[in-house]
Amino acid sequence: MQKNALVPLLWLSILSPIAGFSLGSQRRQQQQQLVSARDFQSPTSLSLAVHSSNNSGSTTFPVSVRAELLKKAKELDRNLADGKSLGSYSPNGWSNRVGLALTPAALPGVYTGDRPFYWNRIDVGCRMCVIQLENSNDLWVHSPVGLDSATKNALNKLGTVKYVVSPNYEHLKFAEQWYKEYPDAFMWGCPGLAEKLPNIEWEGEIPTGLLRPTREDQKQNCWNFNEIVPLHLDMEVNPFTGKPFFNEVIFFHRPSKTLMTTDLFWNYPQPEGVPNSHLNDSGEWELAPSVSSVPIGSLLWKQGMDKVYLPFYKNFMVNNRSYYDEVKKIILDEWNVETLIPAHGDIIRGKEVIREVLSRHLS
Ligand SMILES: *[C@@H]1O[C@H](CO)[C@@H](O)[C@H](O)[C@H]1NC(C)=O
Ligand SMILES: *[C@@H]1O[C@H](CO)[C@@H](O)[C@H](O)[C@H]1NC(C)=O
Ligand SMILES: *[C@@H]1O[C@H](CO)[C@@H](O)[C@H](O)[C@H]1NC(C)=O
Repeated sequence: MQKNALVPLLWLSILSPIAGFSLGSQRRQQQQQLVSARDFQSPTSLSLAVHSSNNSGSTTFPVSVRAELLKKAKELDRNLADGKSLGSYSPNGWSNRVGLALTPAALPGVYTGDRPFYWNRIDVGCRMCVIQLENSNDLWVHSPVGLDSATKNALNKLGTVKYVVSPNYEHLKFAEQWYKEYPDAFMWGCPGLAEKLPNIEWEGEIPTGLLRPTREDQKQNCWNFNEIVPLHLDMEVNPFTGKPFFNEVIFFHRPSKTLMTTDLFWNYPQPEGVPNSHLNDSGEWELAPSVSSVPIGSLLWKQGMDKVYLPFYKNFMVNNRSYYDEVKKIILDEWNVETLIPAHGDIIRGKEVIREVLSRHLS
């Protein structure tokens, strides 16, 4: 199975930072479960925090938008409406920092479901997106997380689940659960997914090699590609199997200028809340409070993904450089992304900071 072929590599990515990063022998002896995320801050993220303070956020994430998002959050969760700082959804922690079943993320109509997600007992965090489609009561769901009653109640307040999208070969764990719970919803997947999950009656797959969708690419019983633009990352091969590993489709929601990625881009919360602290003079954004600690396994996983997996991906997995360059061009130069929602890590806001972060990640 393809997945197994990369597991040794990912384990290597977990272990190698231990050698490369000075954890300090005293700390190692103490076998701490939690360490301050500050210990793991790289110089790049520090300079990013300084660079992005004040300017970019205030223009693209104005006070009126923040107020509107907060208002929507209060409509969804009684606790917040009652003036508490944490929502009523459990569990909350670094991977769901404000403890909401659904968190308003961008206007118009973008929400996220932030949850812990375990990979080999390491919480790598996981986030789905729910978007209220224009001129309708329909909801578009991206990379669904586990369904529970709190999530269903929150969804009910927003509209009717109409499309459920599984964007790559790894983010599919809960697709069947949603298919059973919402039998009238149209299930869509990345290319090749129908074969992987035959128990689901798929409405269809996003067309292979979709760089710039045209009218002809539009499918029946599918959302409007002009409103939420799919882009298939058709440029990747797993060198151990010769087949795509993630085979991801990324999505750009035009009305809110939001980019959604599952495994193409990731990051992790910093104690200063790097992507969010510049949004508020007092250093806090209510719906993304800073975290003081992240489990050590999660931090090591992130370092491994950055230092081992990412260079490996760029050097050995990208098999069509010109396609990759076109993807980069579309993301960086054609879409004016104002909100970046990764499945793993923090939401980033602000055109300039997003461009800087993505240029570095994709370089
Ligand atoms: C950001 O704003 C604070 C006060 O609101 C100010 O003290 C600081 O110098 C500003 N930083 C930058 C980089 O402009
Ligand atoms: C900044 O965050 C604090 C604490 O959450 C809040 O009281 C304040 O109103 C926010 N300021 C702005 C300008 O959004
Ligand atoms: C590589 O991508 C380009 C588009 O950038 C495409 O025209 C070409 O057919 C692709 N090559 C292969 C071998 O798939």
